[in-house]
Formats: sequence, C-alpha cells, structure tokens
Amino acid sequence: MKTSFFFFAVIVVVLCSTLPLSLTQRCNVKDQITLLRIKNSLGNPTVLASWTSNSDCCNWRYVECDLYNDRIKSLTVYSGSISATIPDTLGNLPYLETLILRKITNLTGQIPATITKLTRLKTLTISWTNLSGPIPSFLSQLKTLTTLDLSYNNFNGSIPPELATLPNLESLHLDRNELTGPIPDSFGNFTGKVPAIYLSHNLLSGTVPRSLAQVNFTWIDLSRNKLQGDLSVFFGTNKTIATADFSRNMFEFNMSTMTEFPASLSVLDLNHNSIYGSLPETLTGLKLEALNVSYNRLCGEIPTGGRLQNYDNTAYFHNRCLCGFPLAACF
Ligand SMILES: *[C@@H]1O[C@H](CO)[C@@H](O)[C@H](O)[C@H]1NC(C)=O
Ligand SMILES: *[C@@H]1O[C@H](CO)[C@@H](O)[C@H](O)[C@H]1NC(C)=O
Ligand SMILES: *[C@@H]1O[C@H](CO)[C@@H](O)[C@H](O)[C@H]1NC(C)=O
Ligand SMILES: *[C@@H]1O[C@H](CO)[C@@H](O)[C@H](O)[C@H]1NC(C)=O
Ligand SMILES: *[C@@H]1O[C@H](CO)[C@@H](O)[C@H](O)[C@H]1NC(C)=O
Ligand SMILES: *[C@@H]1O[C@H](CO)[C@@H](O)[C@H](O)[C@H]1NC(C)=O
Ligand SMILES: *[C@@H]1O[C@H](CO)[C@@H](O)[C@H](O)[C@H]1NC(C)=O
Ligand SMILES: *[C@@H]1O[C@H](CO)[C@@H](O)[C@H](O)[C@H]1NC(C)=O
Repeated sequence: MKTSFFFFAVIVVVLCSTLPLSLTQRCNVKDQITLLRIKNSLGNPTVLASWTSNSDCCNWRYVECDLYNDRIKSLTVYSGSISATIPDTLGNLPYLETLILRKITNLTGQIPATITKLTRLKTLTISWTNLSGPIPSFLSQLKTLTTLDLSYNNFNGSIPPELATLPNLESLHLDRNELTGPIPDSFGNFTGKVPAIYLSHNLLSGTVPRSLAQVNFTWIDLSRNKLQGDLSVFFGTNKTIATADFSRNMFEFNMSTMTEFPASLSVLDLNHNSIYGSLPETLTGLKLEALNVSYNRLCGEIPTGGRLQNYDNTAYFHNRCLCGFPLAACF
C-alpha cells in the first residue's frame, strides 16, 4: 500500500514538471496578458525585463499576487526610466489594491478614466512623475481608497470637490503641483474618515471655507499657497488639530483674538504671513513641539511659560515689534 502510494506520488510529480507552464503557474492568465499589454504600451522598458510570457507573473518584479486567489493585487514601481503615458489597460487588473508609480519623470499625460474600474483600490500613489492636466473628479468613484497621493507632479486646475465623498480616505496628498482656485467647500463634508490633508506648494487662493469648522482635522498642511483670511475654523477648544502648517501664505488676522487653542495642538507653523496683534497668553498652556510665527507683523511681548522659551529666536524673528526672550528684551 505504502509503496504504491509512493510510486503514484512520483508519477504525479514527474507529470507536473513536464506540463506546460500555463497549467502549473500561479498567475492568472488574464492578469498575465494584461500586464504584458501594459509593458508593451509602456514601450517595453528595461525596468520590466522580468515580465516575460514564459514565466509565472506572480514572480515578476514590481507585482504581487494575492495569496488566496492568485490575482494581481499590487503593482508598485518606485523608480525607473519609462517614457510613456499610463495605459488604459491598467483598468483591467480588477483585483488591484495597491498602485504606486513613483519617481518616473518621463511618465506624462493624464490619469486614464479606466482607473475607475479598479474597484478594490486602497492605495493610489502617482508621485514624482510628469503627469499633468486636471485632477480628475472620477477618482471619487474609487470608494475603497484610503491613500490618494498625487504629490510632485504637474497637475493644474482646481481641486475636485467630489474627493470629499471618498468615505475611507486617510490621507490626501495633492502637494507640489500647480493647483489653483480655492479649497473646496465640500472639504467640510468629509463623511467617514477625516483624512490628513497635504496641499502645500500649489497656487491655491481665496479664504479657507467656513464649512471646514464642521470637521475634526488632525493634520493639515496648507503651506506655500496664496491663501487669505483667517484660520479660526481650525482653532477653538473643541477642535482636534494636532499638526498645522499654514506658513508662506497671505493669511491676515489679529492673533490677539485667537485665544482658544485645542489641547491637541502640537505643531503650529505660521511663518511668512501677515498676521498682526500679539501672541496670546494661552499659547503657554499648550504642549507644543514646534512653533514658528516668524515673518509676520506681530507686536508685544512673547508670553513667558509653557514651551514658548524653548525655541530659538528664529521662531519669532522678522516681526513688527515682537519682544522678550528669546528675542531682545522689551522696553
Ligand atoms: C526622459 O526623456 C528624455 C528625452 O526624451 C531623455 O533624454 C531622458 O534620458 C529621459 N529620462 C529618464 C529618467 O528616462
Ligand atoms: C519632467 O519634469 C521635469 C521637471 O520636473 C522637466 O525638467 C522635464 O523636462 C520633464 N520631462 C518631460 C518628458 O516632460
Ligand atoms: C493646465 O496646463 C495646460 C498645459 O500647460 C494648459 O493648456 C491649461 O490651460 C492649464 N489649465 C488650467 C486650468 O490652468
Ligand atoms: C455638505 O453636505 C450637506 C449635507 O449632506 C449638503 O447639503 C451640502 O450641499 C454639502 N455641501 C457641499 C459643499 O458639498
Ligand atoms: C464646544 O464645546 C462646548 C462644550 O464644551 C459646546 O457647548 C459647544 O457646542 C461646542 N461647539 C462646537 C462648535 O462643537
Ligand atoms: C469633534 O471632536 C469633538 C471633541 O474634541 C467632538 O465633541 C465633536 O463631536 C467632533 N465633531 C465631529 C463633527 O466629529
Ligand atoms: C487685536 O485685537 C486686540 C484684542 O481684541 C485689540 O486690543 C487690538 O487693538 C487688535 N489689534 C489690531 C492691530 O487691530
Ligand atoms: C522658522 O521659519 C523661518 C522661515 O522659514 C526659518 O528661517 C526658521 O529657521 C524657523 N525657525 C524655527 C525655530 O522653526
């Protein structure tokens, strides 16, 4: 009995090793065909040299198969020389959860609408490429997205308000583009999760919409834009903001009137704006890890206490008449 089982096993092993690859490989044949088409559309770049028709695509570089159904669930290219646009065929990888295209400077054109067919996509990162044109509003159809990172590209036009309808978004990186227009009102309507927002290094203008007061942001970076008005929507004792970078904009308000800060506030950068008045005493009650109010129009004495004397003078310099340690004493 035992010996016959042994021989049976040997025969099975021998048979399997001589079967054509298509019957023994893990990779789904449809996915393999799609990936080979993508490779072809990208001009058969050398970074994708391991993508060959006679090998199992679950073993190819830059892709990962799901352990349970062997479908392609991740495509991540972190750098490479590819001179092409993103092919429409990319939409034919229905099990894709992670798509990362990063540091591919000759990747140009726009985001193809076929991307909306990727209904399981959780992470979409297209960063440090030369993609341009508008940020398409159809990205809001990708309801499973938790990370949307389109930073360091040449996208222009305004931020599509529809992005606020993404119920699972945890971080939104649109920084380092050429985006214009205002922050959409709809950003006060993030329903499910409230994502960390990165909009720095764009050309955004207008005031921060009042609707944002309804949302508990924890991380927001609006630095290096052309935003105006005040920031009161983020402050107040009920708020939950922790990291806030509003530096290098055109914000203009009386700092003396901002007396209530959330206890959660840990990083506050206001440098290079037109903020006037004086620093409120309540800042001494915060556990601030970083504070920078330099290059504004502040006056009066820096309140003493808390962590306000922990920073060097560059946190306060270049104001109209701010004084007291770590700046020169007041007269
Ligand atoms: C990008 O394209 C230009 C011109 O086509 C070429 O000279 C350059 O080497 C390419 N760079 C990369 C990183 O592929
Ligand atoms: C890509 O962008 C860089 C600057 O970010 C630029 O110097 C380069 O010419 C662009 N390449 C293409 C192919 O558009
Ligand atoms: C975006 O850039 C393209 C190419 O430079 C230009 O034709 C288009 O008018 C720009 N769109 C906006 C809204 O600025
Ligand atoms: C925000 O949501 C409310 C209630 O769902 C809706 O009435 C309003 O039009 C939305 N505002 C924006 C700017 O999307
Ligand atoms: C802030 O909290 C107070 C109670 O601490 C409450 O009365 C008030 O309605 C809250 N304001 C907002 C805008 O949630
Ligand atoms: C924001 O957080 C506060 C607690 O700091 C809470 O009372 C309030 O209900 C929250 N608001 C929303 C819209 O989640
Ligand atoms: C700023 O507000 C404070 C307190 O309300 C007020 O005393 C001061 O005159 C204001 N400063 C300016 C420059 O408007
Ligand atoms: C504050 O910001 C200014 C302007 O960017 C910078 O020069 C300075 O080093 C910063 N100081 C601190 C303590 O962050």
